Amino acid sequence: SSPSFIVAIDGPAASGKGTLARRLAATLGFAHLDTGALYRAVGLSLLRAGHAPEDGAAAIAAARGLDAATVLPLMNDPALRQDVVAVAASKVSVVPEVRAALLDFQRDFANHPPGGAPGTVSRGAVLDGRDVGTVVCPQAPAKLFVTADVEVRARRRLSELRNTGAEAIYDAVLEDMKVRDARDSQRAVAPLKPAVDAFLLDTSMMDADQAFIAAMDFIRSRPAFPDFL
Ligand code: CDP
Ligand code: CDP
Repeated sequence: SSPSFIVAIDGPAASGKGTLARRLAATLGFAHLDTGALYRAVGLSLLRAGHAPEDGAAAIAAARGLDAATVLPLMNDPALRQDVVAVAASKVSVVPEVRAALLDFQRDFANHPPGGAPGTVSRGAVLDGRDVGTVVCPQAPAKLFVTADVEVRARRRLSELRNTGAEAIYDAVLEDMKVRDARDSQRAVAPLKPAVDAFLLDTSMMDADQAFIAAMDFIRSRPAFPDFL
């Protein structure tokens, strides 16, 4: 069968990459993997076991213990979406052995994307995160780097938090976002940055529909885009 067509989407927090990735996958009939959820799962398991998120040895053990059977059911768990878990995720994600432990799962998913029914495969995969185009799938034929001004992203995250009934203050959300952006961009291994051949999509002035249309136009323009779609 033909190789999986991989769409790699990276970008900072609340840039809209998850929303975009889900919609692209649904439209193309591809599988979707939110790679941030893997780092969140490691962070959450540390917090639940009473470890500090800075405990590198515990983080490595937790990452090595994750497999499809434990991770995939967790994906929709609201506990994973808490901001305290995002911060823990960004702390465990600086540990090189944690990143290494999560690589095979991500590459396997990209190359053999699960289909809708058990035992079936999809023709492609959409993965979103921080290093999909640079490290996980550098050979992906379609890479996008989604950004937006930090103030715009903080406002988006604030309304998401308020929609879930959480109490949130704009200045605190903005400050947290700046700290996490800096940690993600400045770490030694797999820092957040666009792949050299990534399509840059600044969504500061775009709604989700406009971002989706621009992304689809780019993906369709790639020479490797399968002609059956
Ligand atoms: O995955 P990431 O953290 O990058 O962002 P997200 O979870 O997709 O959330 C982005 C939020 O901004 C959602 O509430 C979207 O409805 C909204 N949004 C968007 O996704 N894309 C735009 N171009 C504008 C707003
Ligand atoms: O939804 P949001 O963009 O806020 O965060 P996320 O995508 O769920 O990622 C949470 C944290 O995991 C990020 O701040 C990164 O530190 C880390 N992460 C990473 O290092 N590499 C990835 N491919 C995805 C996430």
